[in-house]
This record gives sequence, structure tokens and C-alpha cells, in this order.
Amino acid sequence: MKIGIVGTGMVGSAAGYAMALMGVGTEIVLVDASHALALAQAQDISHATPFASTIGVHAGEYADLDGAAVVIIAAGVSQKPGEDRLALLERNVAVFRSVISGVMKAAPDAILLIATNPLDVMTFAAQRISGLPPERVIGSGTILDTARFRSLLGDHLGIAPSSVHAYVLGEHGDSEVAVWSSAMAGSVPIVSFAQQIGRPLDEATRVRIAEEVRRAAYTIIEGKGATWYGIGAGLACIVRAIIDDERAVLSVCQVSDEIEGVRDIALSLPRIVGREGIIATLMPDLDQAERAALKHSAGVISGFSSKLSF
Ligand code: 2OP
Repeated sequence: MKIGIVGTGMVGSAAGYAMALMGVGTEIVLVDASHALALAQAQDISHATPFASTIGVHAGEYADLDGAAVVIIAAGVSQKPGEDRLALLERNVAVFRSVISGVMKAAPDAILLIATNPLDVMTFAAQRISGLPPERVIGSGTILDTARFRSLLGDHLGIAPSSVHAYVLGEHGDSEVAVWSSAMAGSVPIVSFAQQIGRPLDEATRVRIAEEVRRAAYTIIEGKGATWYGIGAGLACIVRAIIDDERAVLSVCQVSDEIEGVRDIALSLPRIVGREGIIATLMPDLDQAERAALKHSAGVISGFSSKLSF
């Protein structure tokens, strides 16, 4: 099973590294505007495989994506300290016009997995530029914010993040929505669970955790210039869900006709991911405030994507 990665900076290479360690796919092809960079990343990642898997990792050109089941697109410029994700938009749409045309010529049957920021608008742009059905253009979306949320909740409650069932939805960005109303620890509503074990999730704690999730990327970027490990693992997890036809429920981004009254919008909701891409979308039960926040988030994204013409 061949997986392509276009754009081999920190995010693309971290995705390749995570796939190599997790044993996702059988062959990884790295493509970059700088072939020297793709070559160096491929060599470095391939030196990790003897410790972990038998995956073949090599650098190539667009033509080498031929037959790929999934192509991760991580090309584009990344955020500078203090810059928000939406400021990147114009620069990255221009990059996508050429990248997606190269990918589509070589691998017209691949599922596209978008990792470039501003994530939701770039997923919208990728779907429009490629002309693929929306369920075959997946954005990593809030899979990372959800991981951060589960991890902070796990820390607070003293339980494994894998036992926390909670999602961040909407924009992968400042207007994201942490959903408390349906969050569970094991099979117990999370606020009640927290009360029972004497680690309450009062209003102030919930605000703090949601804010830490929202600020995580800014904090990491201040410290080391970019984020890559979390998203790398998230991308590997989405690729695995696709190629193994896992039908995993993941908070990922897709273009939809309408969400909360906002038309033609790409954002994250819990979605079932398998061999055909996104198989179904699950609209969660939200309370009134969360519903209003999701509508606001959709409006923020639409404010940008509606200005693009394809
Ligand atoms: C992140 O959230 C910057 O989108 C990237 O880590």
C-alpha cells in the first residue's frame, strides 16, 4: 500500500516518521519542491525502519505517486510566531494550485489528506481545485485539538487519554469548539466522573483546559518555531484508518453543503473514516452554547473560503 507525502518539512516528515514507526502502509514516497530535502528526509526516516517496520521510504517526483492509496499534502508555508493560521491563506492557495494538479495527474484515485494551514480553508481549496468528491478530500482538522483535549482531560482526571471520549469540533483554529456536553470518561459523563473521583471539572477548570487546547499551537511555536510530532501522529492515524478500512470515528475536516445554516463549508465533525474516505458524518448532541459556537466557527471559516474563486 503506497502512501505519498507532498511537502517534506517538519509536518510531512513527522507524518512519514510516525507511519514508519507505526507500520502504516508498505511504501512511503516523499515529494518536495526541494528534491534534496525529500531525499534527506527519506534517508533519515528509512534509518528508523530497521527498529520498527519493513516499510520502504524513498524520495520521488510526482510521477512516483502513481497508484498511491493516500497522498498527504503538507506543502506550504507555516505560521510565524504570533501569526494566526488564516494569515497564511493566499500564499498557500497558490501553492495548492500547482501541487494538486501534480498529484491528480499521477494519482487520480488517491484520497487526499490535507495538513496545510489554515486547515479548513485549505481543505475547501483542495476539494474545489481537485474536483474530487468531498468524502475523498480529508483535512486533519481538529484531530490534533481533540488529542490535546483528551490528553489534558486525562491528566486532570488521572486516567488514560484513550479512556476520555471527547471532541473538539469546528475550525482547527481560534474559533474551535470544545464539546463538554457529551464528553465521557469511560461510559460516564465527564463532569459526573470528575465529581465522583474528587477532581471536579468546575467552570474555571473547563475554561482553563479549553483555553490551553486553543493556545497549544501558539505556545509550542513560541518555544520551537513550529509543531510537528502531534500532527504527524494524527496524520498517521488517519492514513491507517483509511487503508485498514478501520471505520474509526475521528474529528476530521470535510467540505459539507451546509452546517448550522452556513453553506459550502469545510470544518471538523466526528466522522467515520475508512477505505472510501469519509463514510459518514455524525452530528453530535450539542447544548445551545456549543451549537452557537459551532455556527460562529463555521461563519469564521466561511468568511475566508467564500472569498476564494476556483
Ligand atoms: C497546530 O495546531 C500549527 O496547526 C498547527 O499544531
